[in-house]
Amino acid sequence: MGFDIVVVGSINQDLTVRVPHHPAPGETVLGTSHVFGAGGKGANQAVAAARLGRRVAMIGRVGDDQPGRDLVRGLEAEDVDVSHVGVDGDAPTGLALITLDEQAENAIAVSPGANSRLHPETVEEARQVIVEATVLLVQLEVPIESVQEAASLATGTVILNPAPAAALPDELSALADVIVPNRSELATLAGVDLPTDIGEVSAAAHRLSGHSDVIVTLGSDGAVVFSDGRVTPTVAPRIDSVDTTGAGDAFCGALADALSRGMTLEDSARWAVAAGASATTRHGAQTAMPTADAVARLIGD
Ligand code: RIB
Repeated sequence: MGFDIVVVGSINQDLTVRVPHHPAPGETVLGTSHVFGAGGKGANQAVAAARLGRRVAMIGRVGDDQPGRDLVRGLEAEDVDVSHVGVDGDAPTGLALITLDEQAENAIAVSPGANSRLHPETVEEARQVIVEATVLLVQLEVPIESVQEAASLATGTVILNPAPAAALPDELSALADVIVPNRSELATLAGVDLPTDIGEVSAAAHRLSGHSDVIVTLGSDGAVVFSDGRVTPTVAPRIDSVDTTGAGDAFCGALADALSRGMTLEDSARWAVAAGASATTRHGAQTAMPTADAVARLIGD
């Protein structure tokens, strides 16, 4: 039997520095502490779905170094299948430099390292697991040709989280059943200014919908689902956030979880909004991913 969810994406070591405010160009900001953690949008989404109870396989690439070994071990400890995580002798494991401010907002610079060497041929080697997966979950921290290769092999539901934002080839958009940008990714993809209200979000989402459903994540304002002409906002539960790093990944992992269980797009978005909110109540990316019980408590189910 195939995996519920296959993730093709990045695996990073995160270095998070807590700062009073994010540095401006040329500015040095004195932080208060730093911590290394497990990250990468792909790996975060894989852990999110696994912690919610799904059978998950990760397709990715790390360097032949200690962070790479630790990150793969961490995925295994979360019951994520790592048979298709390659080790690259010529590039280090990906690294994300994260500043986290007092409002719990983050700014991230990523050096992809081995992630940028996850080639389409490597994806092709995992053809069988991709073909058999109920859901394929992809982001844009690995080469876009590899993302497209995976999407072209998939027979299940393809969820594309276009993060970090990049121009999407038409072939890739056409292969995505659901596209999940945040507001700034939506602006880049639609070629518009940052949408500030639901009307602007709707207008931008319609520009990129094509044949795909679109779910725009709005942070503490929840998310909006655009599907078959229906527009369905979902409000986020009220919580005290300490760290928003990985909240979008919690959303995507939970969305994949719910869709793989046959929930409707709107109900899945509601579940995913709660998962994203829950993740912001804990520090770190993978460490913050919620269990199904924690999400259910928040949603009041
Ligand atoms: O989405 C959060 C993630 O983005 C971090 O874990 C970091 O690794 C970057 O990929």
